[in-house]
Amino acid sequence: MFHHFTSSVMLTGGIDPHTHLAMEFMGTETIDDFFSGQAAALAGGTTMHIDFVIPVNGSLVAGFEAYERKAKKSCMDYGFHMAITKWDESVSREMEIMVKEKGINSFKFFMAYKGSLMINDELLLQGLKRCKSLGALAMVHAENGDAVFEGQKRMIELGITGPEGHALSRPAVLEGEATARAIRLARFVNTPLYIVHVMSIDAMEEISKARKSGQKVIGEPVVSGLVLDDSGLWDPDFITAAKYVMSPPIRESGHDKALQAALSTGVLQLVGTDHCVFNSTQKALGIDDFRKIPNGVNGIEERMHLVWDTMVESGQISVTDYVRITSTECARIFNLYPRKGAILTGSDADIIIFNPNSSFEISASSHHSRTDTNVFDGRKGKGKVEVTIVGGRVVWQDDELKVVPGSGKYIEMPPFSYLFNGIDKSDAKYLSSLRAPVRRFNSAS
Ligand code: URP
Ligand code: ZN
Ligand code: ZN
Ligand code: ZN
Repeated sequence: MFHHFTSSVMLTGGIDPHTHLAMEFMGTETIDDFFSGQAAALAGGTTMHIDFVIPVNGSLVAGFEAYERKAKKSCMDYGFHMAITKWDESVSREMEIMVKEKGINSFKFFMAYKGSLMINDELLLQGLKRCKSLGALAMVHAENGDAVFEGQKRMIELGITGPEGHALSRPAVLEGEATARAIRLARFVNTPLYIVHVMSIDAMEEISKARKSGQKVIGEPVVSGLVLDDSGLWDPDFITAAKYVMSPPIRESGHDKALQAALSTGVLQLVGTDHCVFNSTQKALGIDDFRKIPNGVNGIEERMHLVWDTMVESGQISVTDYVRITSTECARIFNLYPRKGAILTGSDADIIIFNPNSSFEISASSHHSRTDTNVFDGRKGKGKVEVTIVGGRVVWQDDELKVVPGSGKYIEMPPFSYLFNGIDKSDAKYLSSLRAPVRRFNSAS
């Protein structure tokens, strides 16, 4: 077959650190499961993802087993984070089982979603301590859930019930507050921290400040926050507006560019998607009340293309940086490198062939996700994933998928990633600073 001359490059397959496939949430379940979501990922050059296990009635073991079942139909490799939604002796014990027997090395704490997933500071502190002792990375969804609850009441009282009320009820100041609080508690415990879906300048600046002070804080922007602004939430068509509802919300124009700049200068380290999709019927659960719109947007298929176009094609980062923020850094943070995130002898053969001279166009009618809308609908740009190879097998070529349910493997992630290097030494230094000099007091006369 004749092939036109191109300067395609071979790159390591993308790793998406943040997805929600087949997640039960807000009274419904995300419509992409471990097959359809992964097929979409492969069509977009992502060859591994890490999904969030949600405990069942607070039980981590039951949650893990439920996700093992969901993931049986996988067509690409995947790993798991685990959410912590309550605290007692049994949760603490189960965290150890997850780390030592089940290959989980990260736990997510929700500081928002009051009344469902939200945890308080006391639980967050216990969780941070436990994560540290297990060598597991603590992750936070950073929004002040109590204040969000208050903001929602305020909007409803004003009669604002549409999708824009979602963004107005939870402004960036609440993301900045929770980000700062989580960072300070992690510093108090002296353990690394990973902030998921950084959506605002407010949160990004807290991360920047902490990193400058030497604290080990990782910031993950998501592709929706990098390339979109909040204007869609004001669309007069409910379904069009509701498709943009996610938490933290997509912010006003300006935050997007600032997050791009932070990513290009290393203030933020890697890009996720928070792929969490609901179709129009599911989004319509909130037709009369934005508080009932299932939260979440797409991105698993679009991330590699949009990050290339927005960051590399625009001249903000190099191809080497692109590989780092879409793949290698994720592999390092979750202790998978160099099995994943590299093209080396001994690495899994997860590879893409990327053509910078070709172009992509995003549309809800041609995407591979099961959902009927796409927050990036109509976007065009430079660059195209022409071939995706997983474990040495071509699964995407000539715009065609050849995926096999059940061929994806669960990837265990060992604890004590590089982020834990030196923590024992800084702890020892802190303790000796408390013990010496020992103060002596004169007895009262
Ligand atoms: O709106 C979002 N982000 N939905 C998924 C759950 C979460 O908070 O990550
Ligand atoms: Zn060609
Ligand atoms: Zn979240
Ligand atoms: Zn999420």
